[in-house]
Amino acid sequence: MKKGLIGLVSVVALMVLGACSSSTTSSSSSSSTKSSSDASNQWSEIKKAGVIKVGTSADFAPFEFHTMVNGKDTIVGADIDMMDAIGKELGVKVEYVDMDFNAVLASLEQGQVDIAVSGISATDERKKTFDFSVNYFTPEQLVVVNKANVSKYTTLDSLANKRVGAQKGSIQESIVKDQLPDSQIVSLAKVPNLMVELKQNSIDAAVVESAVAQSYVAQNDDLAIADAKLETAEGDAYAIAMPKGSTELADKINSALEKMIADGTIKEYVQKNTDLANENASN
Ligand code: ARG
Repeated sequence: MKKGLIGLVSVVALMVLGACSSSTTSSSSSSSTKSSSDASNQWSEIKKAGVIKVGTSADFAPFEFHTMVNGKDTIVGADIDMMDAIGKELGVKVEYVDMDFNAVLASLEQGQVDIAVSGISATDERKKTFDFSVNYFTPEQLVVVNKANVSKYTTLDSLANKRVGAQKGSIQESIVKDQLPDSQIVSLAKVPNLMVELKQNSIDAAVVESAVAQSYVAQNDDLAIADAKLETAEGDAYAIAMPKGSTELADKINSALEKMIADGTIKEYVQKNTDLANENASN
């Protein structure tokens, strides 16, 4: 009874979240989503609806972030360009549902969205619950610090007893716990919050993936990448998350994705959106 209630409350919370945060909702058609237990006919359901609902956390430039396009707040980024192209290939509209990263995989599991595209690392742990597409980007794990402190944090040991930030629900939380066990972890909902706290010296460092970290450093003269080197694992690479058993959908997504990886389109998207994020910051 209690469990059911909590479940209901969180579903409602997710719906509210989705309803108020999605600025690029391109369709109001009824939900095409189903619980993850019957993902085998997921593709035919999506095709029938003509729209694929994509969960994302648009706080992660250059992969997904907010910007003004023709005076309208819009979600853009390399993941968005990639997913728009996949949608075209599949012949369906793409509807983005924006939420905190911490909620992205939960809402996929609950069937609130069809798939999740959010710079999601395809870890073995997550593979127990979700199917993943092929990997499309391999990040490095970087330590971002205030430029003034860059000479202090040259090794992982130098971060002992320091406050190190990570995004809630991200693999960076486990990276801090595993690779910086003597540091104090500070988990925050959004990557931009980490950067604000860092600039204010409320935290001493933040673990952020390359491309994202580099984008912030390019935009903020007072931030820098520390020499302290974290290890990168195979499971850090980004892939599209789907409910378990989405075989037909996965095949379609993979063949579109594989083309874009092979011909350099994904790399171009990352570059183009890195430039876009930098332009926005300097405006
Ligand atoms: N790659 C990391 C993970 O999967 C971080 C992803 C964060 N994505 C985002 N859109 N904020 O845990």
